[in-house]
Amino acid sequence: MKPVSIGIIGGGLMGREIASAFARWCALTEINVVPKLVAVADLNPAALEWFKHIPSCTQRTADYRELLANPAIDVVYVAVPHDQHEKLYKDVLLAGKDLLAEKPFGIDLDSARRINAAVEQSGRFVRCSSEMPFFPGAQRAFRYATSGALGRVLEVVSGFHHSSDLDPNKPANWKRWSAQCGEGGALNDLGMHACHIPLRLGWKPHRLFAQLQKGYATRPDGKGGTVACDTWDNAQLHTWTRIQGQDVPMRLEMKRLAPGATNTWFLELRGTDGGVRFSTAEPKTLWQFERGEEQWWKRTELGFGTAFKTVTGGIFEPGFPDVIQQMWAAYLLEREGLLDGRFGCATPQEAVASHEIFAAALLSEKEGRVVTL
Ligand SMILES: NC(=O)c1ccc[n+]([C@@H]2O[C@H](COP(=O)([O-])OP(=O)(O)OC[C@H]3O[C@@H](n4cnc5c(N)ncnc54)[C@H](O)[C@@H]3O)[C@@H](O)[C@H]2O)c1
Repeated sequence: MKPVSIGIIGGGLMGREIASAFARWCALTEINVVPKLVAVADLNPAALEWFKHIPSCTQRTADYRELLANPAIDVVYVAVPHDQHEKLYKDVLLAGKDLLAEKPFGIDLDSARRINAAVEQSGRFVRCSSEMPFFPGAQRAFRYATSGALGRVLEVVSGFHHSSDLDPNKPANWKRWSAQCGEGGALNDLGMHACHIPLRLGWKPHRLFAQLQKGYATRPDGKGGTVACDTWDNAQLHTWTRIQGQDVPMRLEMKRLAPGATNTWFLELRGTDGGVRFSTAEPKTLWQFERGEEQWWKRTELGFGTAFKTVTGGIFEPGFPDVIQQMWAAYLLEREGLLDGRFGCATPQEAVASHEIFAAALLSEKEGRVVTL
Protein backbone atom coordinates (compact mmCIF):
# COMPACT_ATOMS: atom_id res chain seq x y z
CA MET A 1 0.00 0.00 0.00
CA LYS A 2 1.39 3.38 -1.02
CA PRO A 3 0.42 6.03 1.58
CA VAL A 4 -0.69 9.45 0.35
CA SER A 5 -0.75 12.20 2.97
CA ILE A 6 -3.84 14.39 2.82
CA GLY A 7 -4.71 17.77 4.32
CA ILE A 8 -8.31 19.02 4.49
CA ILE A 9 -9.17 22.72 4.36
CA GLY A 10 -12.75 23.17 5.55
CA GLY A 11 -13.80 20.61 8.13
CA GLY A 12 -17.56 21.22 7.84
CA LEU A 13 -20.20 18.95 6.30
CA MET A 14 -18.01 17.68 3.45
CA GLY A 15 -14.66 17.78 5.25
CA ARG A 16 -15.98 15.33 7.87
CA GLU A 17 -17.60 13.11 5.22
CA ILE A 18 -14.26 12.77 3.44
CA ALA A 19 -12.40 12.08 6.71
CA SER A 20 -14.81 9.23 7.50
CA ALA A 21 -14.39 7.76 4.00
CA PHE A 22 -10.63 7.60 4.61
CA ALA A 23 -11.19 6.05 8.05
CA ARG A 24 -12.83 2.97 6.48
CA TRP A 25 -10.45 2.63 3.54
CA CYS A 26 -10.00 -1.04 4.53
CA ALA A 27 -13.36 -1.61 2.80
CA LEU A 28 -11.56 -1.37 -0.57
CA THR A 29 -9.95 -4.66 -1.58
CA GLU A 30 -8.11 -4.08 -4.85
CA ILE A 31 -6.37 -0.78 -4.37
CA ASN A 32 -2.71 -0.17 -3.65
CA VAL A 33 -2.96 3.46 -2.48
CA VAL A 34 -4.11 4.51 0.98
CA PRO A 35 -4.98 8.07 2.02
CA LYS A 36 -3.68 9.19 5.40
CA LEU A 37 -5.37 12.26 6.82
CA VAL A 38 -2.59 14.21 8.57
CA ALA A 39 -3.94 17.77 8.83
CA VAL A 40 -7.08 19.89 8.88
CA ALA A 41 -7.58 23.65 8.74
CA ASP A 42 -10.82 25.34 9.75
CA LEU A 43 -11.71 28.74 11.17
CA ASN A 44 -14.25 27.13 13.50
CA PRO A 45 -12.72 25.58 16.68
CA ALA A 46 -15.68 23.17 17.00
CA ALA A 47 -14.98 21.82 13.51
CA LEU A 48 -11.31 21.28 14.42
CA GLU A 49 -12.31 19.54 17.65
CA TRP A 50 -14.16 16.79 15.75
CA PHE A 51 -10.94 15.82 13.94
CA LYS A 52 -9.47 14.62 17.26
CA HIS A 53 -11.41 11.43 16.41
CA ILE A 54 -8.82 10.76 13.67
CA PRO A 55 -5.54 9.68 15.35
CA SER A 56 -3.39 10.37 12.25
CA CYS A 57 -4.71 13.96 11.98
CA THR A 58 -2.16 15.58 14.26
CA GLN A 59 -2.08 19.07 12.70
CA ARG A 60 -5.28 21.03 13.46
CA THR A 61 -5.05 24.72 12.66
CA ALA A 62 -7.23 27.78 12.06
CA ASP A 63 -4.73 29.05 9.46
CA TYR A 64 -4.75 27.05 6.23
CA ARG A 65 -1.36 28.53 5.31
CA GLU A 66 0.19 26.50 8.15
CA LEU A 67 -1.30 23.35 6.59
CA LEU A 68 0.07 24.29 3.16
CA ALA A 69 3.53 24.81 4.69
CA ASN A 70 3.54 21.19 5.93
CA PRO A 71 6.02 19.39 3.63
CA ALA A 72 4.54 15.99 4.50
CA ILE A 73 1.24 16.74 2.69
CA ASP A 74 0.86 15.43 -0.89
CA VAL A 75 -2.80 16.20 -1.63
CA VAL A 76 -5.15 18.87 -0.30
CA TYR A 77 -8.96 18.59 -0.32
CA VAL A 78 -10.76 21.94 -0.04
CA ALA A 79 -14.43 22.26 1.01
CA VAL A 80 -15.14 25.89 1.89
CA PRO A 81 -17.80 28.45 0.83
CA HIS A 82 -17.70 29.38 -2.85
CA ASP A 83 -16.42 32.94 -2.38
CA GLN A 84 -13.15 31.45 -1.10
CA HIS A 85 -12.57 28.79 -3.76
CA GLU A 86 -10.35 30.81 -6.05
CA LYS A 87 -7.96 32.15 -3.40
CA LEU A 88 -7.59 28.84 -1.58
CA TYR A 89 -7.32 26.63 -4.67
CA LYS A 90 -4.61 28.88 -6.12
CA ASP A 91 -2.75 28.93 -2.80
CA VAL A 92 -2.81 25.10 -2.71
CA LEU A 93 -1.27 25.01 -6.19
CA LEU A 94 1.34 27.66 -5.30
CA ALA A 95 2.31 25.48 -2.33
CA GLY A 96 3.09 22.68 -4.80
CA LYS A 97 0.30 20.32 -3.68
CA ASP A 98 -2.14 18.26 -5.72
CA LEU A 99 -5.78 19.19 -5.26
CA LEU A 100 -9.24 17.68 -5.08
CA ALA A 101 -11.48 20.72 -4.85
CA GLU A 102 -15.17 21.01 -4.23
CA LYS A 103 -17.63 22.12 -6.85
CA PRO A 104 -18.62 24.53 -8.28
CA PHE A 105 -14.86 25.24 -8.58
CA GLY A 106 -15.03 29.04 -8.25
CA ILE A 107 -17.90 31.36 -7.48
CA ASP A 108 -18.62 32.15 -11.16
CA LEU A 109 -17.38 31.54 -14.70
CA ASP A 110 -14.54 34.08 -14.60
CA SER A 111 -13.30 32.65 -11.32
CA ALA A 112 -13.45 29.06 -12.67
CA ARG A 113 -11.48 30.13 -15.75
CA ARG A 114 -8.80 31.78 -13.61
CA ILE A 115 -8.54 28.66 -11.41
CA ASN A 116 -8.24 26.49 -14.51
CA ALA A 117 -5.44 28.70 -15.86
CA ALA A 118 -3.62 28.36 -12.53
CA VAL A 119 -4.08 24.57 -12.68
CA GLU A 120 -2.58 24.41 -16.18
CA GLN A 121 0.34 26.62 -15.16
CA SER A 122 1.02 24.55 -12.04
CA GLY A 123 1.13 21.13 -13.68
CA ARG A 124 -0.41 19.65 -10.51
CA PHE A 125 -2.99 16.85 -10.57
CA VAL A 126 -6.33 18.55 -9.95
CA ARG A 127 -9.90 17.27 -10.04
CA CYS A 128 -13.30 18.64 -9.00
CA SER A 129 -15.37 16.76 -6.43
CA SER A 130 -18.55 15.20 -7.89
CA GLU A 131 -19.37 11.81 -6.43
CA MET A 132 -22.87 10.88 -7.63
CA PRO A 133 -21.72 9.31 -10.95
CA PHE A 134 -19.87 6.74 -8.82
CA PHE A 135 -23.15 5.04 -7.86
CA PRO A 136 -23.13 1.64 -9.60
CA GLY A 137 -26.44 2.52 -11.30
CA ALA A 138 -25.00 5.77 -12.63
CA GLN A 139 -21.95 3.95 -13.97
CA ARG A 140 -24.19 1.42 -15.70
CA ALA A 141 -26.27 4.22 -17.23
CA PHE A 142 -23.07 5.91 -18.45
CA ARG A 143 -21.84 2.68 -20.05
CA TYR A 144 -25.27 2.10 -21.58
CA ALA A 145 -25.11 5.57 -23.16
CA THR A 146 -21.69 4.87 -24.68
CA SER A 147 -22.69 1.39 -25.94
CA GLY A 148 -24.94 2.66 -28.73
CA ALA A 149 -27.93 0.74 -27.28
CA LEU A 150 -30.04 3.92 -27.19
CA GLY A 151 -30.21 4.14 -30.97
CA ARG A 152 -31.01 7.74 -31.88
CA VAL A 153 -31.09 9.70 -28.63
CA LEU A 154 -34.49 11.38 -28.20
CA GLU A 155 -34.26 12.97 -24.77
CA VAL A 156 -31.85 13.48 -21.86
CA VAL A 157 -32.87 14.43 -18.31
CA SER A 158 -30.26 14.91 -15.61
CA GLY A 159 -30.86 16.46 -12.23
CA PHE A 160 -30.40 16.82 -8.54
CA HIS A 161 -33.26 17.53 -6.12
CA HIS A 162 -33.56 18.13 -2.43
CA SER A 163 -36.17 19.80 -0.27
CA SER A 164 -34.35 21.13 2.76
CA ASP A 165 -35.21 24.73 1.80
CA LEU A 166 -38.97 23.99 2.06
CA ASP A 167 -38.84 24.53 5.82
CA PRO A 168 -39.15 28.32 6.32
CA ASN A 169 -37.80 27.94 9.86
CA LYS A 170 -34.50 26.45 8.77
CA PRO A 171 -31.83 29.02 9.70
CA ALA A 172 -29.98 30.64 6.81
CA ASN A 173 -26.41 29.71 6.01
CA TRP A 174 -23.90 30.90 3.40
CA LYS A 175 -25.56 28.77 0.66
CA ARG A 176 -28.55 31.20 0.71
CA TRP A 177 -26.46 34.35 0.13
CA SER A 178 -25.21 35.32 -3.33
CA ALA A 179 -22.16 36.99 -1.81
CA GLN A 180 -20.87 33.62 -0.60
CA CYS A 181 -22.72 31.02 -2.71
CA GLY A 182 -22.53 33.05 -5.92
CA GLU A 183 -25.18 34.62 -8.12
CA GLY A 184 -25.87 31.14 -9.48
CA GLY A 185 -27.34 29.94 -6.15
CA ALA A 186 -28.73 26.44 -6.76
CA LEU A 187 -26.83 26.29 -10.07
CA ASN A 188 -23.54 26.68 -8.19
CA ASP A 189 -24.69 24.43 -5.37
CA LEU A 190 -26.12 21.51 -7.36
CA GLY A 191 -25.26 22.14 -11.01
CA MET A 192 -22.12 20.02 -11.31
CA HIS A 193 -24.11 17.01 -10.13
CA ALA A 194 -26.49 17.44 -13.09
CA CYS A 195 -23.82 18.34 -15.65
CA HIS A 196 -21.05 15.83 -14.89
CA ILE A 197 -22.28 12.81 -16.88
CA PRO A 198 -23.72 14.78 -19.85
CA LEU A 199 -20.41 16.67 -20.15
CA ARG A 200 -18.41 13.43 -19.92
CA LEU A 201 -20.55 12.04 -22.75
CA GLY A 202 -19.73 15.14 -24.80
CA TRP A 203 -23.30 16.40 -24.52
CA LYS A 204 -22.65 20.06 -23.71
CA PRO A 205 -25.65 22.28 -24.49
CA HIS A 206 -25.22 24.77 -27.32
CA ARG A 207 -28.49 26.63 -26.60
CA LEU A 208 -30.65 26.91 -23.51
CA PHE A 209 -33.66 28.52 -21.92
CA ALA A 210 -33.63 28.76 -18.13
CA GLN A 211 -36.42 29.00 -15.57
CA LEU A 212 -35.06 30.01 -12.16
CA GLN A 213 -37.06 30.41 -8.95
CA LYS A 214 -36.19 31.95 -5.60
CA GLY A 215 -37.09 30.54 -2.20
CA TYR A 216 -38.02 32.43 0.96
CA ALA A 217 -36.78 36.03 0.97
CA THR A 218 -35.92 35.87 4.67
CA ARG A 219 -34.97 33.15 7.13
CA PRO A 220 -34.12 32.91 10.82
CA ASP A 221 -30.50 33.90 11.36
CA GLY A 222 -30.06 31.32 14.12
CA LYS A 223 -29.56 34.08 16.72
CA GLY A 224 -33.19 35.11 17.30
CA GLY A 225 -33.49 37.47 14.32
CA THR A 226 -34.08 37.14 10.60
CA VAL A 227 -31.80 37.65 7.64
CA ALA A 228 -32.40 38.25 3.94
CA CYS A 229 -31.76 35.35 1.51
CA ASP A 230 -31.26 36.15 -2.16
CA THR A 231 -30.14 33.05 -4.06
CA TRP A 232 -31.98 31.12 -6.75
CA ASP A 233 -33.33 27.93 -5.18
CA ASN A 234 -34.66 26.04 -8.21
CA ALA A 235 -33.34 25.89 -11.76
CA GLN A 236 -34.74 24.12 -14.80
CA LEU A 237 -32.56 24.42 -17.88
CA HIS A 238 -34.24 23.47 -21.15
CA THR A 239 -31.27 22.91 -23.40
CA TRP A 240 -30.37 21.58 -26.82
CA THR A 241 -27.30 19.44 -27.27
CA ARG A 242 -25.85 17.84 -30.39
CA ILE A 243 -25.74 14.02 -30.36
CA GLN A 244 -24.91 11.95 -33.47
CA GLY A 245 -25.41 15.04 -35.63
CA GLN A 246 -28.92 15.76 -34.29
CA ASP A 247 -30.22 18.42 -31.92
CA VAL A 248 -31.52 16.65 -28.81
CA PRO A 249 -33.54 18.20 -25.96
CA MET A 250 -31.73 17.90 -22.64
CA ARG A 251 -33.26 19.08 -19.37
CA LEU A 252 -30.92 19.88 -16.48
CA GLU A 253 -32.65 20.32 -13.12
CA MET A 254 -31.23 21.61 -9.85
CA LYS A 255 -33.73 22.09 -7.04
CA ARG A 256 -33.51 22.91 -3.35
CA LEU A 257 -37.32 23.14 -3.21
CA ALA A 258 -38.38 19.72 -4.53
CA PRO A 259 -41.14 18.43 -2.22
CA GLY A 260 -40.17 15.11 -0.67
CA ALA A 261 -36.72 14.79 -2.21
CA THR A 262 -33.55 14.25 -0.16
CA ASN A 263 -30.32 14.39 -2.15
CA THR A 264 -31.92 12.72 -5.15
CA TRP A 265 -29.63 12.52 -8.18
CA PHE A 266 -31.14 11.11 -11.36
CA LEU A 267 -30.35 10.46 -15.00
CA GLU A 268 -32.86 9.45 -17.70
CA LEU A 269 -31.85 8.70 -21.29
CA ARG A 270 -34.43 7.76 -23.91
CA GLY A 271 -33.68 6.68 -27.45
CA THR A 272 -35.36 5.05 -30.42
CA ASP A 273 -33.96 1.60 -29.60
CA GLY A 274 -33.29 1.69 -25.88
CA GLY A 275 -33.43 3.71 -22.70
CA VAL A 276 -31.96 3.80 -19.24
CA ARG A 277 -33.01 5.44 -15.97
CA PHE A 278 -31.31 5.63 -12.59
CA SER A 279 -32.19 7.59 -9.45
CA THR A 280 -30.51 7.53 -6.06
CA ALA A 281 -34.05 7.41 -4.64
CA GLU A 282 -33.82 3.71 -5.62
CA PRO A 283 -30.08 3.22 -5.11
CA LYS A 284 -29.75 -0.34 -6.43
CA THR A 285 -32.37 -0.19 -9.16
CA LEU A 286 -31.63 0.28 -12.83
CA TRP A 287 -34.39 0.66 -15.42
CA GLN A 288 -33.62 -0.30 -19.02
CA PHE A 289 -35.94 0.05 -21.99
CA GLU A 290 -36.30 -2.65 -24.59
CA ARG A 291 -38.25 -2.33 -27.82
CA GLY A 292 -39.54 -5.47 -29.49
CA GLU A 293 -42.97 -6.63 -30.55
CA GLU A 294 -43.96 -5.15 -27.21
CA GLN A 295 -42.09 -2.48 -25.28
CA TRP A 296 -40.70 -2.96 -21.77
CA TRP A 297 -39.06 -0.99 -19.01
CA LYS A 298 -37.06 -3.74 -17.29
CA ARG A 299 -36.14 -3.29 -13.62
CA THR A 300 -32.84 -4.74 -12.40
CA GLU A 301 -31.61 -4.79 -8.80
CA LEU A 302 -27.92 -4.10 -9.18
CA GLY A 303 -26.64 -4.47 -5.63
CA PHE A 304 -23.15 -3.30 -4.74
CA GLY A 305 -21.41 -3.36 -8.13
CA THR A 306 -18.97 -0.51 -7.53
CA ALA A 307 -16.10 0.20 -9.93
CA PHE A 308 -13.54 -0.22 -7.15
CA LYS A 309 -14.18 -3.53 -5.38
CA THR A 310 -14.98 -3.65 -1.67
CA VAL A 311 -15.58 -6.13 1.14
CA THR A 312 -19.28 -5.21 1.06
CA GLY A 313 -21.49 -8.10 -0.05
CA GLY A 314 -22.67 -7.96 -3.63
CA ILE A 315 -26.37 -8.01 -2.63
CA PHE A 316 -26.10 -4.94 -0.38
CA GLU A 317 -27.17 -1.46 -1.47
CA PRO A 318 -24.79 1.50 -1.98
CA GLY A 319 -25.12 4.96 -0.43
CA PHE A 320 -23.59 8.44 -0.28
CA PRO A 321 -20.60 7.52 1.95
CA ASP A 322 -19.75 4.68 -0.44
CA VAL A 323 -19.68 6.85 -3.55
CA ILE A 324 -17.59 9.49 -1.75
CA GLN A 325 -15.06 6.72 -1.08
CA GLN A 326 -15.29 5.47 -4.69
CA MET A 327 -14.62 9.01 -5.97
CA TRP A 328 -11.50 9.21 -3.82
CA ALA A 329 -10.36 5.81 -5.09
CA ALA A 330 -10.73 7.18 -8.64
CA TYR A 331 -8.83 10.37 -7.75
CA LEU A 332 -5.91 8.58 -6.06
CA LEU A 333 -5.61 5.87 -8.73
CA GLU A 334 -5.78 8.36 -11.62
CA ARG A 335 -3.09 10.39 -9.85
CA GLU A 336 -0.93 7.24 -9.90
CA GLY A 337 -1.77 6.56 -13.57
CA LEU A 338 -3.74 3.44 -12.56
CA LEU A 339 -7.34 4.33 -13.47
CA ASP A 340 -7.32 1.71 -16.27
CA GLY A 341 -10.20 3.18 -18.26
CA ARG A 342 -12.55 3.46 -15.31
CA PHE A 343 -14.72 6.58 -14.80
CA GLY A 344 -12.56 9.39 -13.42
CA CYS A 345 -13.38 12.46 -11.35
CA ALA A 346 -14.67 15.67 -12.93
CA THR A 347 -11.85 17.63 -14.54
CA PRO A 348 -11.14 21.36 -14.19
CA GLN A 349 -12.23 21.74 -17.84
CA GLU A 350 -15.56 20.07 -17.05
CA ALA A 351 -15.98 22.44 -14.09
CA VAL A 352 -15.41 25.43 -16.40
CA ALA A 353 -17.89 23.96 -18.91
CA SER A 354 -20.48 23.62 -16.12
CA HIS A 355 -19.96 27.30 -15.25
CA GLU A 356 -20.47 28.23 -18.93
CA ILE A 357 -23.88 26.54 -18.67
CA PHE A 358 -24.69 28.35 -15.38
CA ALA A 359 -23.66 31.74 -16.82
CA ALA A 360 -25.84 31.16 -19.88
CA ALA A 361 -28.74 30.17 -17.59
CA LEU A 362 -28.41 33.40 -15.58
CA LEU A 363 -28.38 35.43 -18.80
CA SER A 364 -31.40 33.53 -20.11
CA GLU A 365 -33.35 34.21 -16.91
CA LYS A 366 -32.35 37.87 -16.89
CA GLU A 367 -33.30 38.51 -20.51
CA GLY A 368 -36.13 35.97 -20.78
CA ARG A 369 -34.73 34.42 -23.93
CA VAL A 370 -32.94 31.45 -25.41
CA VAL A 371 -29.17 31.89 -25.07
CA THR A 372 -26.57 30.39 -27.42
CA LEU A 373 -23.42 29.16 -25.69
N1 LIG B 1 -19.93 17.03 -3.34
C1 LIG B 1 -21.03 17.20 -2.63
O1 LIG B 1 -21.95 16.38 -2.64
C2 LIG B 1 -21.16 18.41 -1.77
C3 LIG B 1 -22.14 18.49 -0.76
C4 LIG B 1 -22.19 19.65 0.03
C5 LIG B 1 -21.31 20.68 -0.20
N2 LIG B 1 -20.38 20.58 -1.21
C6 LIG B 1 -19.41 21.66 -1.47
O2 LIG B 1 -18.42 21.62 -0.45
C7 LIG B 1 -18.00 22.95 -0.14
C8 LIG B 1 -18.24 23.19 1.35
O3 LIG B 1 -19.61 22.96 1.64
P1 LIG B 1 -20.04 22.37 3.07
O4 LIG B 1 -21.47 21.96 2.92
O5 LIG B 1 -19.05 21.37 3.56
O6 LIG B 1 -19.97 23.71 3.92
P2 LIG B 1 -19.90 23.89 5.49
O7 LIG B 1 -20.36 25.27 5.76
O8 LIG B 1 -20.55 22.75 6.21
O9 LIG B 1 -18.33 23.79 5.80
C9 LIG B 1 -17.41 24.74 5.36
C10 LIG B 1 -16.30 24.83 6.39
O10 LIG B 1 -15.28 25.69 5.87
C11 LIG B 1 -14.77 26.41 6.97
N3 LIG B 1 -14.06 27.57 6.42
C12 LIG B 1 -14.58 28.67 5.84
N4 LIG B 1 -13.60 29.49 5.44
C13 LIG B 1 -12.43 28.89 5.77
C14 LIG B 1 -11.06 29.25 5.64
N5 LIG B 1 -10.67 30.39 5.05
N6 LIG B 1 -10.12 28.40 6.11
C15 LIG B 1 -10.47 27.24 6.70
N7 LIG B 1 -11.76 26.87 6.87
C16 LIG B 1 -12.73 27.68 6.40
C17 LIG B 1 -16.00 26.75 7.81
O11 LIG B 1 -15.65 27.09 9.14
C18 LIG B 1 -16.77 25.44 7.73
O12 LIG B 1 -16.46 24.54 8.79
C19 LIG B 1 -18.77 23.87 -1.09
O13 LIG B 1 -17.99 24.13 -2.23
C20 LIG B 1 -19.99 23.06 -1.46
O14 LIG B 1 -20.54 23.41 -2.71
C21 LIG B 1 -20.29 19.46 -1.96
